[in-house]
Amino acid sequence: MREAVLPTMLLALETSCDETSAAVIHDGRVLSSVVSSQIRLHAEYGGVVPELAAREHLRNLQPVTRAALHEAGIAAGQLDAVAATRGPGLPSALMAGFKAAQAMAFALHKPFLGIHHHEAHLYSPWISGKPPVADFTAFQPNLSLIVSGGHTMLVHVEAEQQHRVLGATIDDAAGECFDKTGKLIGLPYPAGPEIDKLAEQGNPKAFDFPRPLLSDPGDDFSFSGLKTSVRYFLRDHPQLPDDPQQLRDLCASVQSAIVEVLVKKTIRAAKRLRVGCITASGGVTCNRALRRELASTCGKNRLTLRLAERELCTDNAAMIGILAERKLQRGAAGGAFEEDILPGWQLAHDL
Ligand code: KG4
Ligand code: ZN
Repeated sequence: MREAVLPTMLLALETSCDETSAAVIHDGRVLSSVVSSQIRLHAEYGGVVPELAAREHLRNLQPVTRAALHEAGIAAGQLDAVAATRGPGLPSALMAGFKAAQAMAFALHKPFLGIHHHEAHLYSPWISGKPPVADFTAFQPNLSLIVSGGHTMLVHVEAEQQHRVLGATIDDAAGECFDKTGKLIGLPYPAGPEIDKLAEQGNPKAFDFPRPLLSDPGDDFSFSGLKTSVRYFLRDHPQLPDDPQQLRDLCASVQSAIVEVLVKKTIRAAKRLRVGCITASGGVTCNRALRRELASTCGKNRLTLRLAERELCTDNAAMIGILAERKLQRGAAGGAFEEDILPGWQLAHDL
């Protein structure tokens, strides 16, 4: 194990899914954050193809890292530490960024830190501004909602770097539900942003879809039943998406079912645990209805709300670097170079 250091310059890489990202962090500030999305590559397959993702990461890592260093105005030799996402994620995709970052740290004789992707999401709502800066002095215990294409979970963050998972989806993630129902409707992948756009001019009460597990007292989620009910609805109304207004109404109705479940279960858990602050991150947090609904419900319940900024909602290396630097500053030792990726790495669970 290496000695703890107070780094002044840290490079982070993130390659857990379909975004190749590199960021340079300096004392809580994001000096650069470069994200190369593979959305267009995977769109024709209707979802992420792991082998293609890994190959694309290998192609993108060098130019993305070079761009991040260039944007930050530094040379690799000025780095004090290197970090990367260690898990969870697609094994071959994780491997690309993790091993590249490890090799870089090894060559530079600097500490290396492997970071839990979801733990990094937990702190992304505390990064804000242009250029983005992490404000840990504002930190307060919170109930954190992580909603993306691969995950939906509620986490009680009791103190900085101390958390327990309260619940998670037992089947599809919320983003997956947006994407799969969108595919049924005939929208391109990923359908989340498209549904968001169409729903803005739709009537959320036009069609009635189930709110899965909403009346269940637990903190778990389930979205596959909602997707199935959309499938049956379309079987019974096959021509409906051809009418532009009905299509907008359908999108608004599906979206409102997803958003209602996410918001109500989050607020209920916060009240039960007497937590005064809610945070949200992950790709689905870009959704305008979710942001609005969380804001108004938190307002009514006198809860502080911190939403990750839109650019930091989707996967990015800036949040990985911010957490890595924070961990090093708080005395974490740089990991051993023989450490490997952990594709199924779980956040600590409530027992
Ligand atoms: O966090 P992310 O970039 O990747 C992971 O899945 O880890 O999240 C991508 C997901 C996709 O399912 C996408 O459809 C969804 O986030 N998404 C949205 C919106 N923007 C992205 N869902 C609803 N409304 C949006 N505006
Ligand atoms: Zn993520």
